Amino acid sequence: MVNQPSGKKSNQTTLHVTATAPSNIALVKYWGKSDASLNWPANDSLSMTLSQAKTTTSATMQPDAATPSAHRMAFKTTGAGTIPVRDLGKTTRYLEWLRNEIRPFGSAEGALDILTHNSFPSSCGIASSASGFAALTIAAAGAWTGAKNMDELRRLGITRDVLSTWARRGSGSACRSIHGGYVQWIRGEASSGQKVRPIFSPEHWPLADLIVVIDRGAKSISSTEGHARAFSSPLMSVRMSGLDERLKNAAQAIEGRDLERLGTIIECEAIEMHSVMMTSQPRTDYFGAPTIAFIQWLRESRAAGNLAAWFTLDAGPNPHVICRPEDADAIKGLILAQFPGCALIHDQTGSGATLGPGQETHNANQGGSDGH
Ligand code: PMV
Repeated sequence: MVNQPSGKKSNQTTLHVTATAPSNIALVKYWGKSDASLNWPANDSLSMTLSQAKTTTSATMQPDAATPSAHRMAFKTTGAGTIPVRDLGKTTRYLEWLRNEIRPFGSAEGALDILTHNSFPSSCGIASSASGFAALTIAAAGAWTGAKNMDELRRLGITRDVLSTWARRGSGSACRSIHGGYVQWIRGEASSGQKVRPIFSPEHWPLADLIVVIDRGAKSISSTEGHARAFSSPLMSVRMSGLDERLKNAAQAIEGRDLERLGTIIECEAIEMHSVMMTSQPRTDYFGAPTIAFIQWLRESRAAGNLAAWFTLDAGPNPHVICRPEDADAIKGLILAQFPGCALIHDQTGSGATLGPGQETHNANQGGSDGH
């Protein structure tokens, strides 16, 4: 727990609003920033919003905070583990920045009580920053302005576009988690000119994402650090020159529901991004032999006609296996038979972030939550 106002007793509070935001898996990746302080990406990217892996964040006004920035935050864990928070200061700074952005749309006064929960276990290789900052942004906007759902936010002028622009400042990829389906993040000619567009709905082409948890360890290099290293790779300029074409082709493959075409693109894309990582200074390795063994097995099984599935990888060792929903159970069985030590999360295309009334009463200072 931080920012506990000294001398204050903890308060039982009725939560005001609850936001949920899903994680998203990038099919064409954001790697490298044109402006690190603004999370302005060096390139456009394209992702699929998920539905099972999500963050739920409740927020309410504190009636008795010592100072407006004395936010209280608690993290509910899944199972026995605790979710490590790398940088709490970053969250508090983000909330204070967000408060200034929200002020023109309504009240943004007072400190917040925030309770966050991830549907996926800690250290399972799903980036929680995308869903986490998207949910935090929406919950804070709701609690501060009094809006109880997305329609009420929109009526105040806080559209999904606005929320997306804000969430990006917390974590770049969070801007895509506001929207559902297949989402394109266009960087724009200036840092203020970004556009985040859902280009196909989840209903257009539902796909399964089997997240194979090969390694539960926290990653040794944060994505912030990895982004900063990207331009030291001699491969980065080659990557940049081909990305517009790749994104166009990926969008066409989604439009035509052509899984083999999309799969071929996303595998090449993931390997290219990791090649940039591995040739950056200092060298950045996000996976090792177990992930390579998995990739080889997947490719061989596909070549042998045993499965129609393609992988992608984010900044970590755990492959996301993309396949048709009707094939997912059988492919899951094949994966677990070959790699019995792995955990597997079965996810699919989802419909984006939500805001609703507060769901529960909690004491932000009670035991049992991981204060962070
Ligand atoms: O949003 P960040 O700073 O955690 O960066 C995300 C980077 C990748 O997950 C590797 C790619 C992406 O586009 O999500």
